Amino acid sequence: MKSTKSKSWAEPYRMKMVELLKMTTRQDRIKAIKNAGYNTFLLNSDDVYIDLLTDSGTNAMSDRQWSAFMLGDEAYAGSKSFYKMEAAIQKFYGYKYVIPTHQGRGAENILSKILIKKGDVVPGNMYFTTTRLHQELAGGMFTDIIIDEAHDPLNEFPFKGNVDLNKLDKIVKKYGAKKIPYVSIATNVNMAGGQPISMKNLKELYKYTRKHKIRIIHDMTRVAENAYFIQQREKGYEKATIREIVKEICSYTDGATMSAKKDALVNIGGFMATNEWDVYEEARNMVVVYEGLHTYGGLAGRDMEAIAVGIEESLDDNHQHARVGQVEYLGNKMIDYGIPIVKPIGGHGIFVDAKAFLPHLTQDQFPAQTLAAEIYIDSGVRTMERGIVSAGRKANGENYYPKLELVRFTIPRRVYTQAHMDVIAESAAAVFDRRKSIKGLQMIYEPKYLRFFQAKFKKL
Ligand code: F0G
Repeated sequence: MKSTKSKSWAEPYRMKMVELLKMTTRQDRIKAIKNAGYNTFLLNSDDVYIDLLTDSGTNAMSDRQWSAFMLGDEAYAGSKSFYKMEAAIQKFYGYKYVIPTHQGRGAENILSKILIKKGDVVPGNMYFTTTRLHQELAGGMFTDIIIDEAHDPLNEFPFKGNVDLNKLDKIVKKYGAKKIPYVSIATNVNMAGGQPISMKNLKELYKYTRKHKIRIIHDMTRVAENAYFIQQREKGYEKATIREIVKEICSYTDGATMSAKKDALVNIGGFMATNEWDVYEEARNMVVVYEGLHTYGGLAGRDMEAIAVGIEESLDDNHQHARVGQVEYLGNKMIDYGIPIVKPIGGHGIFVDAKAFLPHLTQDQFPAQTLAAEIYIDSGVRTMERGIVSAGRKANGENYYPKLELVRFTIPRRVYTQAHMDVIAESAAAVFDRRKSIKGLQMIYEPKYLRFFQAKFKKL
């Protein structure tokens, strides 16, 4: 249904059941974060009041999704729940062939192994942690082709997810199109702060890649949020529905990976999709090795039922209006308090600029990691580092030094209220008031892969 475009973004649903939360004291939280090595990933969720670690798998399912659960067909082979999920993906996204996986990275693993050869180059509109790692493990080298504006937290360009075609052209000229198995395009770029790519840019990219015979692979984890921004900001799309925009986006790409744990409003699940029979055939073989048979891919039948329903619900205009509206409400409150955040406000969370928040810390003192720990201590609000710790190390062992050093306040879909948003903004403001007294961190344990999940720190 098309949004009525009323000013208010009130939720198009009401509550039928609630989950009770434990309230903690400041003393409790100081102890908990110390035990967690100042890493919010290592906190016990029971010690968290408002959990903004991620919007991944933390969504509230609808009554329709829960009732679809009961229809789950748990047959090992040929589950009818798979065919429902496949039909939803074909109908709403338009891709021909579908491989279910336990979550997004399962799809990334299979797709990267199939398409990337050692020495290949994979250009993308900024990296995502798991996506880039799978590209590298398959022998590829990721190169960033997002527009420069995306690396500047204050630049208010409305489509900071756009690709710089000149950067891409340089890479094509340098390595040759044969070395580029695909261009990796994320919709609503997570690491840039939940920033959209415009339809115009995607169309230009499509034209360019047809000329050079290079595929576009779409990380469609947050495609509906991207579509909402196109509807709100791009000329010619004011009257289009999110459903129509999403279908059009997908039509300019050759295949996709998706973590259904975000847009599709479920707690677990993902898939790979492709329009190429050969790629599908190979994926159907490979999924059996890494995930499960090609009609369940590591998912229960009930999960596939919930995904089929969730995809449709995610494309409702009123849902996205309320979803992004809530994020904007929080962001505007923080701006009013003078807190430096990435602008424009993104789709799935508020990204606080930790370099600007704690200018007295060097990047090696982990400003974003430090800030996430301080916010937890203040109020029990759990956020996530998206800076130097998340960026990890290059193949040669050197640290990546990302321009963006951010703390992400990620908003789960349909979970928290406007009053929760007030508490979150007030807590960020309280930490902002005492920012000058905050000391940095030192890393004392570093895992080899995706270090941000399990790294440990101590206070300097
Ligand atoms: N692509 C994007 C853009 C993502 O944000 C994620 C996950 C994945 C792929 C991988 O999917 O977790 O289902 O394996 N992002 C989560 C986050 C973890 O918190 O941003 P997954």
